[in-house]
Amino acid sequence: MSSKKVAAPTPAVRTAELRRLIEHHNYRYYVLDDPELADAAYDVLYDELKALEDEHPELVTPDSPTQRVGAPPAEGFRKVAHLSPMGSLDKVTTAEALAKWAEDVRKRLGTDEPVAYVIEPKIDGSAVSLVYERGAYVRGATRGDGLRGEDVTGNLRTLEAVPLRMRVPDGEAPPDVLEVRGEVYFPLDGFSRFNEAQVAAGRAPAPNPRNAAAGSLRQLNPAVTAERPLAIYVYGVGVRGDSGPATQWETLAWLRERGFRTNPHTQRLESIEEVAEACAAWEARRGTLDYEIDGIVIKVDSFSQQERLGSLHERPRFARAYKWAPTAAVTRLRKIHVRVGRTGVLNPLAELQPVQVGGVTVSSATLHNEDDITRKEIREGDLVVVQRAGDVIPQVVGPAGEHEPGSKRWRMPKRCPLCRTQIVKPVGEVMHRCPNRACPSRGLETLYHWVGSAMDIESVGGNTVKKLWDEGLVRSLPDLYTLTPEQLATLEGYAEISAARAYESIQHSKEQPFSRVLFGLNIPKVGWVIARSLAQHFGTLEALGSATQAQLEEVEGVGPDRAELIAEWFADEENRALVEELGELGLQMTAGEAERPAEGALTGRQYVITGTLESFRREEAKAALEALGAKVSESVSGKTSGVVVGESPGSKLQKARKLGVPVLSEDDLRELLRAR
Ligand code: IVH
Repeated sequence: MSSKKVAAPTPAVRTAELRRLIEHHNYRYYVLDDPELADAAYDVLYDELKALEDEHPELVTPDSPTQRVGAPPAEGFRKVAHLSPMGSLDKVTTAEALAKWAEDVRKRLGTDEPVAYVIEPKIDGSAVSLVYERGAYVRGATRGDGLRGEDVTGNLRTLEAVPLRMRVPDGEAPPDVLEVRGEVYFPLDGFSRFNEAQVAAGRAPAPNPRNAAAGSLRQLNPAVTAERPLAIYVYGVGVRGDSGPATQWETLAWLRERGFRTNPHTQRLESIEEVAEACAAWEARRGTLDYEIDGIVIKVDSFSQQERLGSLHERPRFARAYKWAPTAAVTRLRKIHVRVGRTGVLNPLAELQPVQVGGVTVSSATLHNEDDITRKEIREGDLVVVQRAGDVIPQVVGPAGEHEPGSKRWRMPKRCPLCRTQIVKPVGEVMHRCPNRACPSRGLETLYHWVGSAMDIESVGGNTVKKLWDEGLVRSLPDLYTLTPEQLATLEGYAEISAARAYESIQHSKEQPFSRVLFGLNIPKVGWVIARSLAQHFGTLEALGSATQAQLEEVEGVGPDRAELIAEWFADEENRALVEELGELGLQMTAGEAERPAEGALTGRQYVITGTLESFRREEAKAALEALGAKVSESVSGKTSGVVVGESPGSKLQKARKLGVPVLSEDDLRELLRAR
């Protein structure tokens, strides 16, 4: 055996190699939906790259996979002109209209030459354009009015399926400019979780996934967009050079090869009859997808035929959107029920006389909140219009006619339907809440939240939680930890081994970090992000529990309202007893190593960075300050220790001056970092 050592690659070589590997695995995962690596192995590569880049900031490149959330928050969105207009599609709603269009296409082409079609699901999301210059992602924009959209480059780069660098096949040079178009959407499973979180935080839920997608793209802070589970399918190229594919079908394959995610449900069909059949089949199948579609897009496949057909007012003659007849129905609204969620939020629900809407039986629908019901003028007993507008989630649109004689405007009950406690509606919120922390529904919902989300107790599912509740074995969080394997084994569907497994995983959850415990406690307006910040800031339950409102407000993201709710929660005797008991049972009440921010010469100081820095990337400056224990936040307040100002600073500089906060130049920043 040779004892000669292979020289370790230099950091520059290794970072380049890691980037290539990570991009390859991203492509396998997000585009081909065929991962080769386990998530944990992928994380190892990613963490190694991150560590190398932290150590050698000069090696960070804008297209590095670590830079997806790197863009600083915007103050507003710049308008950008599209390289070519983003048009829209004329629609057809019947097989006859489809056949008529095909006939028109045939006539215009003037011959009996064959016409092939490509069909693509028409996803109901938000259309975007992605621009690549010599293979590098340089700009992303919304459709806007079709001519000009909003620059959402930083937000779109947070989507893993948006390649930061195109893949280029061997021997090929990347095009000087390429504009790719696609649809960004909010997957349905993520959508329901998102809305639950909205409601729990006292915010109005998004009416549909399209709205949620558009809203997520228009966040000023890309870090917020990054937290949303947005996805994208691309469907075409804006500006086409002379070279490249000659058909839509080949374009989709071409895009996929170059690293873009295309919809696997596209088809190439050779006759309009097959197209009609496929559209009809999709109407029945649309509910099986993880996203909403509002129709099928049909395109003439050949680009030369497309060009000969041309467009009229930015509406191509070579394509149509086949939309199903609106999926609405009229039915009786039997009753409006109120469900109490885990944070005490009251959700009105419509109980409907069961009715078929677009092939699905609908018997209930969410009504969001009291204001929504008032605005739509919906009353119990009314005949109402129920709609699945290209979507899967049913909505009550409004009354179908006159109100029933003697009907009354619906009001949120004054008392909680479960515990009779008087309900409240905090100022500025749209949702009503039951303030009783011992409310039975909240207890069960809190358990679901604790087991399913916060503590992630894998071997205990929702059904088990419900059974434990119904049997009276678990009525509070501490009860969970005093359960014995024998008690678990008495549950229907459990045997000795499964009971032992469930017991183990419950006990194991005691190791979950403090931030998760905080998240699990259902403190009003404390979601995952705030829970982490609180854990980091205070370090122990004791410090957090005795913090004043003013001290709570020092935490990033905690304003006066939230601070008040948190302080109130900890002031409550029952809550104090609860956390004490959980602590005695062995749950983590102190922040672990990973949750603690670095300690250093700047501990306790807070900085804001604004404008473009010349010799630092903003992320580097932030990391350098944080490494010395400082916090870097987005907004200037009286608590800010200094505002670092680069080229073309925005309103933050004015605010700093107004508040008398010290203004630091880039040189001052260097000095500050060096002096420590
Ligand atoms: S092609 C000239 N293909 O539908 C416009 N559009 O009304 C060509 N959409 O704004 C658009 N999926 O938001 C095309 N596979 C697809 C699509 C699609 C969804 C949306 C897109 C566009 C609207 C057109």
